[in-house]
Amino acid sequence: TDASPAPAPAAKPHLPDAAKVTSVTHWTDRLFSFRVERPRTLRFRSGEFVMIGLMGDTGKPLLRAYSIASPAWDEELEFYSIKVPDGPLTSRLQHIKVGDEIILRPKPVGTLVHDALLPGKRLWFLATGTGIAPFASLMREPDTYEKYDQIIMMHTCREVAELDYGRQLVESLKDDPLIGELVGDKLLYYPTTTREPYPRMGRVTDNLSSGKVFADLGLPPMDPATDRAMVCGSLAFNVDVKAILEGFGLREGANSEPLEYVVEKAFVGDGI
Ligand code: FAD
Ligand code: A2P
Repeated sequence: TDASPAPAPAAKPHLPDAAKVTSVTHWTDRLFSFRVERPRTLRFRSGEFVMIGLMGDTGKPLLRAYSIASPAWDEELEFYSIKVPDGPLTSRLQHIKVGDEIILRPKPVGTLVHDALLPGKRLWFLATGTGIAPFASLMREPDTYEKYDQIIMMHTCREVAELDYGRQLVESLKDDPLIGELVGDKLLYYPTTTREPYPRMGRVTDNLSSGKVFADLGLPPMDPATDRAMVCGSLAFNVDVKAILEGFGLREGANSEPLEYVVEKAFVGDGI
């Protein structure tokens, strides 16, 4: 009853929805990835995001949205994160170590899922910065290769080192014992930088509107009959990409109404 005394606090209080960190990799001074144990009851669709965080100073959880970067079949959960120097969460999250616990709210949601697109032949993943996270999941998802003939991963960052996480992931796919054979030659990777020399350069938007990416990869321009797209970047990026996709005749879909493309913000803020 309400009158019963509160239970004595445990010697070491456990976080609500705690998940234990199993590995941490720092990619640059602004980017890191980490893996946590997956709660046995957590189900999600590759491409979705969850709320994760740490206990705040006031004793209230400090939570932020994070794309799950690992595929739905993985025994662990992976996240790819920015380090915002004065960011309430990431100023602390960037210091997590193996064995630490984070808070993970078990309610995955999101629009970057296969169910939100009509069937097609070619699937375009368009990302900037940490916006590659949901595609790190979807590039390891068997459905991606079962549903499409070709998958094109366009990822743009300012500097070369910021591409490393995505590049290593793509390189590891062909030898992956679980999905390597499915991937085969279906995945076309198109990384570019904008502020440091690299073999391929330019914004995703510019390479789509100029037709450069189609010429480089030997593909026809996007066509709503065959092409599908998933977009994840800053608000400014998403707005500009949407206009280009609409120009090709693709329409924005949702879980409730699958169409030709879907969009998710990689973070809140104007990104300018
Ligand atoms: P905040 O107070 O949350 O952010 C401070 C400022 O930092 C923002 O105004 C923005 O200008 C900038 N910023 C925040 N996140 C980013 C970012 N990812 N890239 C560039 N600039 C940023 N972040 C990730 O690192 N990985 C993810 O997989 C991821 N998935 C997300 C999915 C969704 C649907 C949304 C809405 C956001 C996602 N974010 C992701 C952003 C994340 O929720 C937090 O904003 C981020 O962790 C920073 O938290 P913070 O408390 O340190 O700073
Ligand atoms: P650029 O260097 O030309 O601004 P940011 O770090 O600012 O989030 O940017 C990540 C990458 O996304 C950068 O390569 C940046 O290019 C590019 N970018 C930023 N805004 C847009 C936009 N509106 N459309 C296309 N690409 C963008």
